[in-house]
Amino acid sequence: MTGSAWWRHAVIYQIYPRSWADGDGDGIGDLLGITARLPYLRDLGVDAVWLSPFYPSPQADAGYDVADYRDVDPLFGTLADADTLLATAHELGLKVILDLVPNHSSDEHEWFRAALDAGPGSPERARYLFRDGRGHAGDLPPNNWKSVFGGPAWTRVRSTGSTDGSTDSSTGGQWYLHLFDARQPDFNWDNPQVRAEFEDVLRFWLDRGVDGFRVDVAHGLVKESGLADWDEPLYLLGDDPGAPPAEKVPHAHRSRRAPMWDQKGVHEIYRAWRRILSSYNPVDADGYSGDNDRILVAEAWVAPQARVARYVRDDEMHQAFNFDFLQTQWRAGDLRDVITTSLAAGDSVGAPTTWVLSNHDVVRHASRLGLPVGTTRPHGIGIGDPQPDAVLGLRRARAATALMLSLPGSAYLYQGEELGLPDSTDMPDDVRQDPTWPRSGHVERGRDGARVPMPWQGDQPSYGFGPSEKTWLPQPASYAALAVDRQLGAPGSTLELYRALLAVRRERALGAGSLSWLAGYSEDVVAFVNTKANSERSLVVTNLGAEPVAVPTGTTVLLSSGPLTPDGRVPTDTTVWLTE
Ligand code: GLC
Repeated sequence: MTGSAWWRHAVIYQIYPRSWADGDGDGIGDLLGITARLPYLRDLGVDAVWLSPFYPSPQADAGYDVADYRDVDPLFGTLADADTLLATAHELGLKVILDLVPNHSSDEHEWFRAALDAGPGSPERARYLFRDGRGHAGDLPPNNWKSVFGGPAWTRVRSTGSTDGSTDSSTGGQWYLHLFDARQPDFNWDNPQVRAEFEDVLRFWLDRGVDGFRVDVAHGLVKESGLADWDEPLYLLGDDPGAPPAEKVPHAHRSRRAPMWDQKGVHEIYRAWRRILSSYNPVDADGYSGDNDRILVAEAWVAPQARVARYVRDDEMHQAFNFDFLQTQWRAGDLRDVITTSLAAGDSVGAPTTWVLSNHDVVRHASRLGLPVGTTRPHGIGIGDPQPDAVLGLRRARAATALMLSLPGSAYLYQGEELGLPDSTDMPDDVRQDPTWPRSGHVERGRDGARVPMPWQGDQPSYGFGPSEKTWLPQPASYAALAVDRQLGAPGSTLELYRALLAVRRERALGAGSLSWLAGYSEDVVAFVNTKANSERSLVVTNLGAEPVAVPTGTTVLLSSGPLTPDGRVPTDTTVWLTE
């Protein structure tokens, strides 16, 4: 029965609330804005939305620093607005997935304030990872871990009841661990109170009708006991930016597993959560119905795929993001390999494979694919950096998306990719807001380039993002021509391509099909058949080679990511979908 559950083949669209649609004109997107624009997503043809965090937060990491897990930040609206958003989405046939951030809270969470007040040895401190310092006066951090955003992963607090967390090591108190910003203290997941609290948070939102959760840093909650030193940098978001591609070694391939990532203990947390979610699943008259499953999706930057599969065993999460696919170089062999490995990893545990090319943490694929093949994925692009080739990037991005959406499994889209938006790569550094930029000592530009507010109307102030000219990050001038209103109904536009891809994908149930490789093509071509249960066959050809390739005889073109040659062949960096 589970074969038909919606999440096995769903297309899920990520909304980054501060940048999608601004209802009140303050320059920051909000829930009212989102609700008003939801019909756009129904018309686009996606199944669900995932909303990045909108909870009360000092916004030290754009909302991934949560001060209260059961409310809405006034910046984004109210709980009533969240209810309206949910109800409207459901009326439109869209499911809604929230972002749950369980690895750490904000330093303004009431538990963390209480921990600072209560002092060493208190039950309040035991909900986080406080430790005494090393060295003569405890003035050295408890271990040598570095924060993912750069700088030390420990901050020292004052010795007595003050809520003033301070990076000043002369303040005499204990240290607390934060794998991310100093304003994001890590929870202690060995503490039963932390576990009970998050189970309650899940129920709070499930009771309001949400359809699932994207679990932030799902591989980080449990740390190896002892918190031993770790000499390697803490790259969460994939590649070591300094390492040449050939020398990149994913954490899981190194001699010792990093003590903060992918520990065995995380899995029992997700088993408990799965039981809670399952208890909310409606059962129809015929027994189980997969149409309304509530789901969990893991953000787990682990490798190889076999390790990722452990998060989606049938009593754990439903899906995990496929970051290997996102990070694959634009080479046919690499693409074939990652597709094969990903499908096999999912199959090994009976889970669907997922596919993703962009999100709010990475350079958008329309820009990434415009860098020379072999370039290590940059952590942001700014003034003075090598700039992507925009035309090449968009052409490849369209081909890559057409390939992705033809694959069996579930796919994630990031807001604005349907417009072919590039990253903002020439943003002045002084407007950047990602803590990565200052914490890395101004070495890594960070993620702002992918987070620029959406252009809806090319000739309006803020390109129609909201009713005022304000936008929390500046929009590049190139966004005017890419605005929704310029692309809707325009033949050949990227938006129309996405709409067509999603419509045909649905019609032909490509997400629920199975893949077999087509023989007879050159090394530079990715070619396969996606076969549906009723044996209808869809053929897919992506040409990454220099020469155009012929389509198989007896086939008809359903759609293509760009124009074919006058004699009907598939040119370089183009994907075509065909039927027999
Ligand atoms: C995840 C989020 C990222 C955030 C980090 C810390 O990787 O996607 O945006 O900064 O977790 O919460």
